[in-house]
Amino acid sequence: MALLSFQRALLLAGAVLPLAQQGFAQTVNNQQGEVIPANEITVAPAAELLSGEIDAHTLQLTDAALANLTAYQLTDIDLFRFDDTDVESASQQAKRTFVGDCKVYPGDWRWPSRLTWTVFNLVTGGALIETVPIGAVCYRNSGVYNQAKCANIIQNWAQSDTHANDPTSVMSPLYTGETCMPQNGDTSQCTLGGFPSYAIKAQSVYQIQLAVNFARTVGLRLVVKNTGHDFLGKSTGSGALSIWTHNLKSIRFLKSFKTPSYSGPAIEMGAGIQVGELYAAADQYGVTAVGGECKGVGVSGGYTAGGGHSPMSTKYGLGSDQVLSLNVVLPNGRFVTASETKNTDLFWALRGGGGSTFGVVTSMTVKVFPKMKFAGVTWTINSGSDTANSDSLFWQAMYAYWAKFPQYATKAVYGYSMIFPRGPPGAGYAWTMQPWMVPGMSLTEFKATVQPLFDEWTAMGFQFIPQFFEHDNFYDMWTSHFPTEAVANSNLRTASRLFPRSAWDNTTKRDAMFDAVRSVVDEGSALIQYNMNPAAPAGTAASGANSHWRDAIWFGIMGTGWAPDISTTELEAVQRKITDNWMGRLRPFGPGAYLNEGDVMEPDFAGAFYGTNYDRLLKIKRRVDPHDLFWAPTAVGSERWTIAGQPNWLTLQTGKLCKVSN
Ligand SMILES: *[C@@H]1O[C@H](CO)[C@@H](O)[C@H](O)[C@H]1NC(C)=O
Ligand SMILES: *[C@@H]1O[C@H](CO)[C@@H](O)[C@H](O)[C@H]1NC(C)=O
Repeated sequence: MALLSFQRALLLAGAVLPLAQQGFAQTVNNQQGEVIPANEITVAPAAELLSGEIDAHTLQLTDAALANLTAYQLTDIDLFRFDDTDVESASQQAKRTFVGDCKVYPGDWRWPSRLTWTVFNLVTGGALIETVPIGAVCYRNSGVYNQAKCANIIQNWAQSDTHANDPTSVMSPLYTGETCMPQNGDTSQCTLGGFPSYAIKAQSVYQIQLAVNFARTVGLRLVVKNTGHDFLGKSTGSGALSIWTHNLKSIRFLKSFKTPSYSGPAIEMGAGIQVGELYAAADQYGVTAVGGECKGVGVSGGYTAGGGHSPMSTKYGLGSDQVLSLNVVLPNGRFVTASETKNTDLFWALRGGGGSTFGVVTSMTVKVFPKMKFAGVTWTINSGSDTANSDSLFWQAMYAYWAKFPQYATKAVYGYSMIFPRGPPGAGYAWTMQPWMVPGMSLTEFKATVQPLFDEWTAMGFQFIPQFFEHDNFYDMWTSHFPTEAVANSNLRTASRLFPRSAWDNTTKRDAMFDAVRSVVDEGSALIQYNMNPAAPAGTAASGANSHWRDAIWFGIMGTGWAPDISTTELEAVQRKITDNWMGRLRPFGPGAYLNEGDVMEPDFAGAFYGTNYDRLLKIKRRVDPHDLFWAPTAVGSERWTIAGQPNWLTLQTGKLCKVSN
């Protein structure tokens, strides 16, 4: 249990800026009782090495580490203490948590001084980054203008890595208010907008603990960003301190891992591991892992926290059903493990109960499965007057496909396809089957499964060219048939629905559902659709994942874009069309929706995103985070706070986060 002093050496590599230069003489008392300036040389990171090798999880903030800092008599050290409700008096606790009517905002008298931020940087081992929005290099008067970097960012804007590798950039710039878009470098001013003020580049648990304690004690808004692949604005916020978990990149294979409900191989991964990295590692270890379809998504972040659907979900359930154990920094700053036997309520909630709500997950252990075969088919089918398929024939064929969803779901089929209008009404449709496949099935069996539909299509004169495939492992199937997703389109918003199997029971009602979905596409919405049933396999530990997922056999994401320069009135009309009109038409058939790919304006988000689990999730939230340190739009418990001073039809993250007044 050595307290770290050697870490100072690491710090010396960075630029040394004595605090005194900033007009303050912050000092510490050294062991000889002398008063010396506090700087990177005299103040070590507030970490204790708990065991063995230094890695992200052995360097922790502990009572001993804090006691050591107290001995220095560094002012501000109280800002980093834990909130130990069980052992402290009420007045001590009050010191550890500031809760005002709004989160403390830049310019407020309570906003930390430069000096305090500097001390925070010192104790985190130099992990603090003052936000420079990714687009700033494109603005001549930003102080960081750089034509070559700007050109590079613009060229790679739609790539998820561009945003994942930046401390504060997010893949839905809509929520930042688009106040520093690289594309607008010549025509506007770069401001922070909905970007956080600071980020902590987390490479060790102690840095996350310090950030949590600091934000809670001061009353700062806290956000968590992993990759920034998020459609609801959960990983950014004006005036916030952001915890950036992307660099927690450990991964290891565990040949045999046992819990009360599981015994078998597993993978333990740091919070920064992305889907593509997990799949590549699993392939190397000779196993199959369950993750999302997009390469760049962070597995242990919002993906798993939100449930997480997967090409493997028809066989093994949601991403969150794979989790055997999680390590998490709680709102009180303590670092704990949640599993079937430890912190069991949290274990239940962290698997599907939503991201940025209960704490910061730093790593987790998941089940993995044997390698298996994959057979399936892809196609692109167009309709319209310039093609062999009329629009009415196109929809007739689509209805025939949709009608078979219950039987496909029973056979563990996964069908992932996209329908886009090819232009204005009347221009026809493009239907791209990404893959339609069944995990573990041979091509012969797969062909037999889809042949009845193909026979129907042939009989109705529908023209299509299926491209069949077969692979002997998941990795080859995934790299060959799943496209990389383009991100960061700012003038776009999506919503979703989960349609339950029971909606097929009554054919009149079922056809009305098909008509309603078709009508939304006819009016210009895209439809990204999944035919799958992510029920939890027998023996899976119960979890807080949306109950609507369990009997869903059709998941549809809809949405639309708009021209960048439309008026506020027109913009409001588009937002309301998605939420009220289109989703209003579909909610009677599919009351549930997927919280990670849902509508940030979903009116009853608790019912739609969490189903029957909401009440229990809320109880757990109130217990572990009584003062709402963690907040994100549509997260459990989020209804107590709102972004001040903006119309209710769009949740930009550009303003102060304040309590809802009753
Ligand atoms: C506190 O940290 C310093 C610097 O890392 C170290 O030299 C010292 O031994 C520690 N003090 C205690 C009481 O452990
Ligand atoms: C089927 O649904 C329709 C429309 O909702 C309804 O009028 C009809 O009574 C239902 N039929 C049965 C057998 O439930």
